Amino acid sequence: MTGSIPRLVDNFGRQHHYLRISVTDRCNLRCIYCMPEEGMEFEPSDKILTYEEIAEVVRVVAGMGISKIRLTGGEPLVRKELEKLVAMIASIPGIEDISLTTNGIFLAPRAERLKEAGLTRVNISMDSLQADRFKMITRGGDVRKVLDSIDACVKVGLSPIKLNVVLMKGLNDDEIADFIALTQERDIHVRFIEYMPIGHSDTQWKNLYLPLNRVMEVCAEQQWEYASVTTIQGNGPSENYRLNGAIGSFGLIHPVSEHFCQTCNRLRLTADGYIKPCLAWTEQFQVRSVVGNDEAMRQLFLDALGTKPENHEMSKFLQGDEEISHTPTARRMSQIGG
Ligand code: GTP
Ligand code: 5AD
Ligand code: SF4
Repeated sequence: MTGSIPRLVDNFGRQHHYLRISVTDRCNLRCIYCMPEEGMEFEPSDKILTYEEIAEVVRVVAGMGISKIRLTGGEPLVRKELEKLVAMIASIPGIEDISLTTNGIFLAPRAERLKEAGLTRVNISMDSLQADRFKMITRGGDVRKVLDSIDACVKVGLSPIKLNVVLMKGLNDDEIADFIALTQERDIHVRFIEYMPIGHSDTQWKNLYLPLNRVMEVCAEQQWEYASVTTIQGNGPSENYRLNGAIGSFGLIHPVSEHFCQTCNRLRLTADGYIKPCLAWTEQFQVRSVVGNDEAMRQLFLDALGTKPENHEMSKFLQGDEEISHTPTARRMSQIGG
């Protein structure tokens, strides 16, 4: 009776076909915009959804129109045998795209197995091309491992390869031109991301936040000509451009200066088993108790969608609105999955 299964449409008419699944809240790095250096508390393993439970959720929502899956963390590759989950999801009818957002440190030796298991593509966080600076931003990461992972992905055909660069004023904004220049010779898609005050809104965020019109100013300074591109495979909010003659592309993800909520097509599943209809909102719905009851799970997803706001309010921080002192989610980015 497929005809009677409801689709994932919210109160604002937005169709949802993209589910971001965080498989762990743990990470081998401590990026300064994501986690504190010390004192992060992680979920005990019995609170984390099993691969079987995650696959059950995917099976049910695939019947409601979800066709694109992204695996995130924390760092998804710290969870054992992620290849097994990729293969389980790949075998579910209706799933067309399984991608991974990773910091790339552990990716090189696993790229081939992930591809064989059914992974389609990867987005890699890389906020600096300079070894010392990369180490500082990630609090210990080795940029060479990430560069090796990019090469490994090229070799095994995990493409398109996207790099995520969270721009921070005075920290890495002098590398905008270097990142864009990479796309001239290589089939790499660099996306600049505005630093979001998720899980913490503090002086650090206010000091480091940089609106992405800076990227276009750099293009003008370099006298680069570029055009908009719409053909890059992806389900997220990036607005993409290509320098004339370049092989790769660059993109802008600007949730703060100009939100893209009107085209939101995404739901999130946290590692500890909650549906989060909006990245920057408090509402969350516990899924574990309905695994095994398809009807109840479908209803839970519909209930979750019913609470999805029309848009988030991150820009209020810029206006110095004192009414809200933090984004209305108690979770940090690593506890949501980005
Ligand atoms: P594709 O376009 O399918 O390649 O993926 P994506 O860009 O959705 O995934 P990725 O995990 O690489 O996310 C890139 C950045 O976009 C991260 O900083 C995410 O937090 C951010 N992002 C993704 N979806 C949303 C969203 O709905 N709202 C906000 N505010 N940020 C988002
Ligand atoms: N603001 C913007 N992007 C962030 N990410 C993590 N924390 C933040 C933040 N506060 C990015 C990571 C990763 C993606 C999932 O989210 O760099 O690429
Ligand atoms: Fe880990 Fe990603 Fe957070 Fe960095 S941004 S600490 S790599 S989860």
